[in-house]
Amino acid sequence: MISMQLTKQEQKMLDGAEGYAVRKSMEILVALGEIYGAKSLIDVGSVQVSGVSYNNLGDAGLEFLDELAKDGKVRVLTTLNPAGMDLENWRQLGISPEFAEKQNLVIKAFEKMGIIISCTCTPYLIGNLPLFGEHIAWSESSAVTFANSVIGAKTNKEGGPSALAAAFVGKTPCYGLHLDENRVPDVHVKVNTELTKLSDWGALGYAIGKKVENKIPYITGVSSANLDDLKSFCASVVTYGAKPLFYIKGMTPASEQQTPPKETIAVDQADIKNAYDNINDQVTDIELVCVGCPHCSINEIAKVAELVEGKKVADGTEFWVATSRTAKQLADKRGYTAVIEEAGGKFACDTCMAVAPLKGRFKSLATTSAKGCFYSRQNLMKTKMGSIEECVQAAVSGKWNS
Ligand code: F3S
Repeated sequence: MISMQLTKQEQKMLDGAEGYAVRKSMEILVALGEIYGAKSLIDVGSVQVSGVSYNNLGDAGLEFLDELAKDGKVRVLTTLNPAGMDLENWRQLGISPEFAEKQNLVIKAFEKMGIIISCTCTPYLIGNLPLFGEHIAWSESSAVTFANSVIGAKTNKEGGPSALAAAFVGKTPCYGLHLDENRVPDVHVKVNTELTKLSDWGALGYAIGKKVENKIPYITGVSSANLDDLKSFCASVVTYGAKPLFYIKGMTPASEQQTPPKETIAVDQADIKNAYDNINDQVTDIELVCVGCPHCSINEIAKVAELVEGKKVADGTEFWVATSRTAKQLADKRGYTAVIEEAGGKFACDTCMAVAPLKGRFKSLATTSAKGCFYSRQNLMKTKMGSIEECVQAAVSGKWNS
């Protein structure tokens, strides 16, 4: 006996009237709803599915997807998170044919379901752009935080299976961040320091995430940011904190509807320095430089091209620009790809340093991303975080200088 209210059509789906994938999906959604006390399901405008890399899925995950793909078709716009490899140039990135074969089977299963094979953690840059207030079911944590905070859409941080279930049903259980009462900020964060480069936003995310833990921050003292700053902050604050939602006064759209909470904490220059100290390891020789976590915007690619033009990536160092294939196609047209490749850089489309099978392959990493450092340490790399300029300098010298 379930306590959630289901419509007649939802009950039929749960009873199997629309096939295996829909029944299985309804079972997942109802179980989640029951656990979290949802009263009903709500329609979602789009879905973003994580759990795409064969490195994380393994054969058991692939089997699960194959079963669903037999009769499962998505009902709403659905895009994919990065896979374990560049789907076209995997050889160039050192991926084995055995891994590529399995990864391609995963992609085939998603394709059969009607999912757009976008393989990016910045779906909002390639056409999966929700509206303010729209309910969605996304699963990549940085994208979820961007959607909730920068766009003002409403989503919980779904797991891969629950996002897929939402895609097959077109609905998700209404609990958590779908409800306005759970979107009220708990702590006022006063930022008393200047942020001067992209990686400072990762450091700010680290500092705030560690301080607020599971609370929703209402941030003041930040006067300007561009899209790349905010996507970097989103990735960091949810990696080192927990809640995929924040407000920045005067900057994020729903901030004016909220009042600053009474509990107040400060973030100052010492907190930013502390973040860098904790994210950066003792290492000088850099084997992998990767920019694009979250995936590079066209603006970031343009900046990389400008910085590497006429230079050469050092022997013994790889330089990856991680981005969506859509952004890469634009970079091809604008001439940025040719400049970056001429310098010895490689595009890593459809994938990223966290989900590619890199464990043990590189000992050290330089990146612009606080989140990238977190996951690369799990891949046994020593990490350095800095600006795009510092990363390009590391790529051409093979050393981290600051
Ligand atoms: Fe995206 Fe991978 Fe970073 S999914 S946010 S590039 S760890």
